Amino acid sequence: MLLRSVFLPCAVFFSAASICAGPVWGQTVGLGLAQANNCMSCHRVDRKVVGPGFSTIAERFAGNPEAAGYLAQSIVNGSRGRWGPVPMPRQAQVSPNDARALAQWILSLNSSSADKVE
Ligand code: HEC
Repeated sequence: MLLRSVFLPCAVFFSAASICAGPVWGQTVGLGLAQANNCMSCHRVDRKVVGPGFSTIAERFAGNPEAAGYLAQSIVNGSRGRWGPVPMPRQAQVSPNDARALAQWILSLNSSSADKVE
C-alpha cells in the first residue's frame, strides 16, 4: 500500500512525533502506536470487537473541539458505560503525548477512510 510503504521509515520512529510531521503522519504512525500499545487487541478501525470501532468513535465526536483532549484522558483512564456494558480498563502504559496522538489519529478516521487502514 502506497502510504504505508512511503512512511514505513517514519513509523519506526513513531514515538518521535516531530520527525514524522506531515498530513499522513497520523494514518501510519497512529496505527503503529495503537498496535504497540495493545489497543488492537480490543479495537479495530472499521468495526466493533470488544470496544467500539475507531471510525465509529470518530463519527460520534466529529466536529467536537473538545474531543482530542477528552479522548486522550479516556484512553489513559479507561472508560465505562459510554458505548456498552463492557468497560475499557485504564491504559496506564500510554504516555500523555502518545494518548494525545492516539486520540488525534482516532478522530482522523471515518468510515470512508477505514478500508485503507488495517
Ligand atoms: C481490554 C480491551 C480494551 C483495550 C486493550 C483498549 N480498549 Fe479502548 N475501549 C474498550 C471498550 C470496551 C470501550 C467502550 C467503553 C465504554 O463503553 O465506555 C473502549 C472505548 C474506547 C474509546 C472511547 C472512549 C470514550 O470516552 O468514548 C477510545 C477513544 C478508546 N477505547 C481507545 C483505545 C486506545 C487508544 C487503546 C490503546 C491504548 C485502547 N482503547 C485499548 C476496550 C479496550
